[in-house]
Amino acid sequence: MNDALKNILNRNSHRSLVEPAPTREEMDLVFQAALRAPDHAWLRPSSFIEIQGEGLKKLSDAFVSYAKENIEDLEIEKLKKYEQAPFRAPMIVVLICTPREHPKVPEVEQIMSTATAGQNILLALNSMGYGGIWRTGAFSLNNKIGKYLDLDKGQQVVGYLYIGTPEGKAKKIPKLDIDEFVTKWSS
Ligand SMILES: Cc1cc2nc3c(=O)[nH]c(=O)nc-3n(C[C@H](O)[C@H](O)[C@H](O)COP(=O)(O)O)c2cc1C
Repeated sequence: MNDALKNILNRNSHRSLVEPAPTREEMDLVFQAALRAPDHAWLRPSSFIEIQGEGLKKLSDAFVSYAKENIEDLEIEKLKKYEQAPFRAPMIVVLICTPREHPKVPEVEQIMSTATAGQNILLALNSMGYGGIWRTGAFSLNNKIGKYLDLDKGQQVVGYLYIGTPEGKAKKIPKLDIDEFVTKWSS
């Protein structure tokens, strides 16, 4: 089996992620990979915020402000969890979609394009020995969170990729029977 295929088959989401985060040069390649996502009419709907260091505190503050202002009956324990959430990895990439008006390309296609950019990021990181996990939770896929991340109206947060060096034992990758998922039409 070739290395590209091995990289896809062994990608694993990691919950425990520590330093070191990828370097600047590595992340530049990772973003080039992200921008090779399929993109109907080349509308370039995807963009990214790369967060590390003090930026994680800024994200934590944004989560806290969003939660206080938008989540009803917010329990103090939940708020603490949200405040700590960004510190679960040394780097976070926020996946953002800016849907453009186009007669043939609906918004959902553009969000899917950003999602595939997310997968390209995870695969590129895996190929370099780094780990990641895609999280959404309370802070994605709604029309209110963007304001707290200094986004323009209409820009969508598609998810957060937590990124770093995997720590501990990787979880077992399940073996799936393709016959349960694939229907073949050949005549
Ligand atoms: C759009 C999307 C959102 C997700 N949101 C979360 C999340 O908020 N929290 C979480 O623990 N896992 C979330 N996951 C699942 C993990 O990223 C991961 O896929 C899952 O743990 C299975 O691991 P695997 O990718 O190695 O198969 C999400 C996945 C996707 C595709």
